[in-house]
Amino acid sequence: MIKKYSDYSLKKYNSFGIDAKANKFITFSSEVDIPELFLNIKEKEEVLILGGGSNILFTSDYNGIILKNEIKGIDEEQLNENEVLLSIGAGEVWDDVVNYTVQKNYYGIENLSLIPGNMGAAPIQNIGAYGVELKDVFYTLECYDIENGEKRIFNLDECKFGYRDSIFKNELKGKIIITKVNLKLSKIGKLNTNYISLKNYLIENNLTTPTLSQIREAVINIRNSKLPDPKKLGNAGSFFKNPIVTKKIYDELNQKYPNLSYFISEDGLYKISAGWLIEKCGLKGIRMGNVGTHVNQALVIVNYGGATGEEILKFVENIQTKVFNEFGILLEPEVNIINNNQQENL
Ligand code: FAD
Ligand code: EPU
Repeated sequence: MIKKYSDYSLKKYNSFGIDAKANKFITFSSEVDIPELFLNIKEKEEVLILGGGSNILFTSDYNGIILKNEIKGIDEEQLNENEVLLSIGAGEVWDDVVNYTVQKNYYGIENLSLIPGNMGAAPIQNIGAYGVELKDVFYTLECYDIENGEKRIFNLDECKFGYRDSIFKNELKGKIIITKVNLKLSKIGKLNTNYISLKNYLIENNLTTPTLSQIREAVINIRNSKLPDPKKLGNAGSFFKNPIVTKKIYDELNQKYPNLSYFISEDGLYKISAGWLIEKCGLKGIRMGNVGTHVNQALVIVNYGGATGEEILKFVENIQTKVFNEFGILLEPEVNIINNNQQENL
């Protein structure tokens, strides 16, 4: 089903709570609706695909068409004795999917509990948390190619997943609509409890042999202790990516700052905690007008109410400048910044 609105407020549709408007706002709930959506779209009109709006910053009104994907449904197929394939509509709420898998005792995405947003956006930045990324359970995805109207299927390699990255943030940015994602989950218990704050939580709570539900609960509790709830305080999670540097740069930084917080990434490079860099600059919990860094997590930028996208962007640039001046590292936004109708990551 297709529903169309004009001059539509986006306030409820972005977790920053920015009160921007879209010229046209169209919702669709089935893959078969998509060709019809494009029949009346003029070539020059900008189009933005929207999921839950939890990784997006509108810096002005959107002078174009927003297509909100509401394709629902979860189908199951037994691949073999130990594995199950879930085919999930792009408009399903991600955490409902996680809850469904935990209830069914399917292992693989429990560490990704409580990440806001919808299924369709999860492959865009290869969502990750507590030692797990979407790519670890990804099988294939189905999408609509906006340029030629064809259906395409991408497998794991074709998605070119990286840390908070994929082909859909690069060569295919704005060119496809993800309609369905297929995940391969395991029916045999293999928990990932290596992430330090998760490991500590389990020790502190005497959970030596945790169940799937206990891992989900642990992750939810850890997240709630430091990340602000967007329903109460506008935000889009981590605003910046954790910068990845070579051993040489890491060594130089570590000499100057022996307490530097970092992880060694899969490819042997050093992932520096951007939150630590921001905090070290004295910027944790600061506030300028309606915008600030969160008191419990410096990497999260919050809207205290009434902030405009422009105001948030100015604050972001200020943080980038101060971190660069101190450490020589330019923090790269993770959030998709929608600027003058053009989607960019600064
Ligand atoms: P949106 O914000 O609607 O869209 C994001 C991007 O994807 C946009 O470029 C949009 O055009 C594109 N897009 C959306 N749907 C489709 C589609 N169907 N087809 C094609 N393109 C599409 N992320 C993590 O990785 N790990 C975390 O731990 C995490 N924690 C968070 C905590 C909080 C409190 C918040 C607010 C955010 C957090 N995020 C985290 C970021 C965010 O939840 C994820 O990036 C999520 O996947 C965004 O989903 P969404 O549906 O809201 O996407
Ligand atoms: N830290 C500080 N000060 C801060 C925040 C963090 O010093 O204000 C240091 C601490 O040493 C802490 C370390 O950074 O131990 C790591 O912090 P945390 O575990 O909170 O993780 P993060 O690196 O800040 C990343 C993701 C989150 C994800 C968590 C858990 C990115 C950009 N962010 O945050 O994802 O939930 O790990 O895996 O990779 C998101 O992408 O929106 C997001 C919230």
